[in-house]
Amino acid sequence: MVRSFMLLLFIIVVCTFLPIFILSTSDTSYDDCSPFKCGNINFSFPFYSHLNSICGLPGFEISCENSSSDPRLLLSGRLYHVKNLEMTLSNPISDSSLMNTLITVVDPQLVKDLTAGSCESFYNLSIANTSTGSLNLPPGSANLTLFKCPKKLSLSKEFTDKVVNNVSCNDGDQLYVWRNRTQFDPPLFNSVVLAPSGCLAVFLPVSGFGYLLLNASDADQRTKLIQVLDAGFLLGWKWSNIEAQEACEECHKRRGRCGYDGSLKKVVCFCKGGCEKSKRKKQLFITGN
Ligand SMILES: *[C@@H]1O[C@H](CO)[C@@H](O)[C@H](O)[C@H]1NC(C)=O
Ligand SMILES: *[C@@H]1O[C@H](CO)[C@@H](O)[C@H](O)[C@H]1NC(C)=O
Ligand SMILES: *[C@@H]1O[C@H](CO)[C@@H](O)[C@H](O)[C@H]1NC(C)=O
Ligand SMILES: *[C@@H]1O[C@H](CO)[C@@H](O)[C@H](O)[C@H]1NC(C)=O
Ligand SMILES: *[C@@H]1O[C@H](CO)[C@@H](O)[C@H](O)[C@H]1NC(C)=O
Ligand SMILES: *[C@@H]1O[C@H](CO)[C@@H](O)[C@H](O)[C@H]1NC(C)=O
Repeated sequence: MVRSFMLLLFIIVVCTFLPIFILSTSDTSYDDCSPFKCGNINFSFPFYSHLNSICGLPGFEISCENSSSDPRLLLSGRLYHVKNLEMTLSNPISDSSLMNTLITVVDPQLVKDLTAGSCESFYNLSIANTSTGSLNLPPGSANLTLFKCPKKLSLSKEFTDKVVNNVSCNDGDQLYVWRNRTQFDPPLFNSVVLAPSGCLAVFLPVSGFGYLLLNASDADQRTKLIQVLDAGFLLGWKWSNIEAQEACEECHKRRGRCGYDGSLKKVVCFCKGGCEKSKRKKQLFITGN
């Protein structure tokens, strides 16, 4: 009985003083979490600069040497160049807090190495999904299927019929880009053909437009492939936690800026001059009494 009373008291104290503690740090944090410029892009939540990790979600850190250098984002252990950021309304009749952010990213290492004749940087990109937010390929993206095969390997006609790009690597292998099973392909390509043994498969996202540009009859296959990879692909971000999403939407309604407390693992809200209390929360508090 006494123990549960103490627990209740503890909860009341935490609930009363924790918001005050968060609010007291809000003013400087609000300013710290202003959109920041890197290259020619303004980034804001869920992206953050390494200087202010409280301003964004884990996994969305933008590396930026100085405000005029290229913004970089770490994906699968590799720094991608963020070439563009655009906001689209997720639902035209809803308010502006429900914007979708789309970024265009390029793997500069891959482009650089392929330009130099090396196929060493091809790898399967796996996009991390954290408990709060994740990056996703939006509809309209496509996968390139690549096979890196020994040059002497004899390939079936079934295989070579699907090749849309073919370049030699300076380690003696041959790289074949394959068209298969995406929404952009005619049903002809839907049959599953196993990769020849001895070849290494790699899946890489590209834009649907880039995907359609590749053609086996292109004169300069390498230049074309580099051009498509250098155009990059789109990534959109999504909340993976509905409570965090609601906390951030609530924060926008209070004219605040969302942030993230890594130790509490919670979305926090920073407002200029303190966050106005939300009406809904107040009512809940009264009925709770
Ligand atoms: C970035 O923000 C600054 C200041 O708010 C603004 O002047 C500039 O036009 C913005 N740039 C882009 C590319 O949105
Ligand atoms: C910014 O960084 C780039 C390299 O990323 C460098 O070339 C440039 O000189 C730097 N600019 C300033 C103003 O420091
Ligand atoms: C990429 O993924 C495929 C299928 O999951 C796998 O067979 C292949 O070995 C991977 N390639 C690399 C370079 O890791
Ligand atoms: C990301 O992970 C969360 C749970 O941690 C899950 O609910 C969500 O569906 C995942 N999203 C994607 C795109 O895999
Ligand atoms: C591309 O391939 C990966 C791995 O096979 C898969 O997880 C992803 O959903 C595919 N994306 C598209 C747009 O087909
Ligand atoms: C790959 O390109 C070479 C010439 O560069 C050509 O001889 C060969 O037939 C091509 N292979 C396929 C499968 O398209």
